[in-house]
Amino acid sequence: MKIPYFSWLFMIPICSLFVSFGIFVVSGQCLGHQQSYLLELKNTLKFNSTLSTKLVRWNGSVDCCLWEGVTCSEEGRVIGLNMFNESIMAGLDNSSSLFSLQYLENLNLAYNCFNSPIPTEFRRLKNLSYLNLSNACFAG
Ligand SMILES: *[C@@H]1O[C@H](CO)[C@@H](O)[C@H](O)[C@H]1NC(C)=O
Ligand SMILES: *[C@@H]1O[C@H](CO)[C@@H](O)[C@H](O)[C@H]1NC(C)=O
Ligand SMILES: *[C@@H]1O[C@H](CO)[C@@H](O)[C@H](O)[C@H]1NC(C)=O
Ligand SMILES: *[C@@H]1O[C@H](CO)[C@@H](O)[C@H](O)[C@H]1NC(C)=O
Ligand SMILES: *[C@@H]1O[C@H](CO)[C@@H](O)[C@H](O)[C@H]1NC(C)=O
Ligand SMILES: *[C@@H]1O[C@H](CO)[C@@H](O)[C@H](O)[C@H]1NC(C)=O
Repeated sequence: MKIPYFSWLFMIPICSLFVSFGIFVVSGQCLGHQQSYLLELKNTLKFNSTLSTKLVRWNGSVDCCLWEGVTCSEEGRVIGLNMFNESIMAGLDNSSSLFSLQYLENLNLAYNCFNSPIPTEFRRLKNLSYLNLSNACFAG
């Protein structure tokens, strides 16, 4: 059977619709409050923007589930954060918005230098099952 040329022209947009929907479902669309907690975190952390490769590129005009170092669930909840070797020098205390990211399961802060005691507010992250603080200059 010969398919007329013009019908292919209609199928292309339909196919791309399915493809983009597939990508949307797999990566999850960042929930609004999750994105603002992350941006607040970026603004309160003191880091060297020349050496940072992930944090420095977090940008509010892009869905936060697509940011480097951020992992989301299908519902758009931030469940993983990898800030390994981001030259963070300060800015993590009890009031940090990091501790509002209640869905976090994996958190890697290794190879930074926070120069502060370990905040007790880590206890708010009830679902945290992996926490890496190696070579992160926490005192106490
Ligand atoms: C950031 O790192 C660069 C490259 O190592 C260095 O030249 C610069 O002084 C650092 N900036 C700060 C604020 O530490
Ligand atoms: C950390 O990043 C710097 C560049 O910013 C790189 O030179 C260094 O090897 C990295 N360290 C580790 C442990 O990956
Ligand atoms: C975010 O990305 C937009 C568009 O690429 C750019 O204009 C803006 O300056 C970026 N903002 C930051 C904070 O990097
Ligand atoms: C965090 O709060 C606890 C009490 O809830 C306090 O003992 C601790 O010193 C605080 N840590 C920082 C870094 O402020
Ligand atoms: C923690 O994990 C459990 C089991 O996966 C889930 O039912 C619950 O909603 C999670 N809570 C938060 C705050 O993410
Ligand atoms: C902590 O993170 C660093 C950098 O990603 C990695 O090399 C190291 O193996 C991790 N440690 C553990 C116990 O997972």
